Amino acid sequence: MPELNEFSYKKRIMKLYSEPSYVKTYDRRYNSIQREKYEIILPYLENHPLWILDVGIGTGLFLNKVVRQWTLIGTDLSLRMLHIAKKRAKKNTNVELVLADADYLPFKERIFQIVTTFTLLQNVPNPLKTIQELKRVSDNLVAITVLKKKINVLSLREFLKKSGVTKFNIIERESEDIFAVCYVT
Ligand SMILES: C[S@@+](CC[C@H](N)C(=O)[O-])C[C@H]1O[C@@H](n2cnc3c(N)ncnc32)[C@H](O)[C@@H]1O
Repeated sequence: MPELNEFSYKKRIMKLYSEPSYVKTYDRRYNSIQREKYEIILPYLENHPLWILDVGIGTGLFLNKVVRQWTLIGTDLSLRMLHIAKKRAKKNTNVELVLADADYLPFKERIFQIVTTFTLLQNVPNPLKTIQELKRVSDNLVAITVLKKKINVLSLREFLKKSGVTKFNIIERESEDIFAVCYVT
């Protein structure tokens, strides 16, 4: 079978994450597992006030964790997932949601102190390109989690080296994801 080009690949991913039954049950199925991932990353973010960009925010489960402390900008490719995130954000004036592809973020260079992305990277056609885009919009720190069964530690390390981040720590825990905290400057 020929490899899907970038557009068809993303169309397929968008369809998957826009499937009404998937979207409807997402929170129930993934709430606790995603929250455990946030708990692992949050201590690395604490000395960085102001703005966070969360790429592939999905239904916004991460939002509850950070909204009291920071202004959060969340992007996703699926409008249906964003609709749930919007309901979750309710009247929080420090949350903005944007329909955008992780590989073409509609933001200036180095505009966010922190960029996070939870369990997104295994969905993109070219993880290195995506990491480079996350790095482009970050002024300081990029935190990434990715499904181990799709991208292993060795591959993630190679992507991070090639992406040109200044330094990075890979954190391995009992989780379905691998964690990486990367410094850009
Ligand atoms: C497994 S879900 C994780 C959602 C969220 N980060 C969480 O912690 O619950 C992956 C999300 O990435 C989004 N996504 C997939 N490819 C994307 C892309 N190229 N750009 C932006 N979002 C994307 C999907 O729509 C989905 O909401």
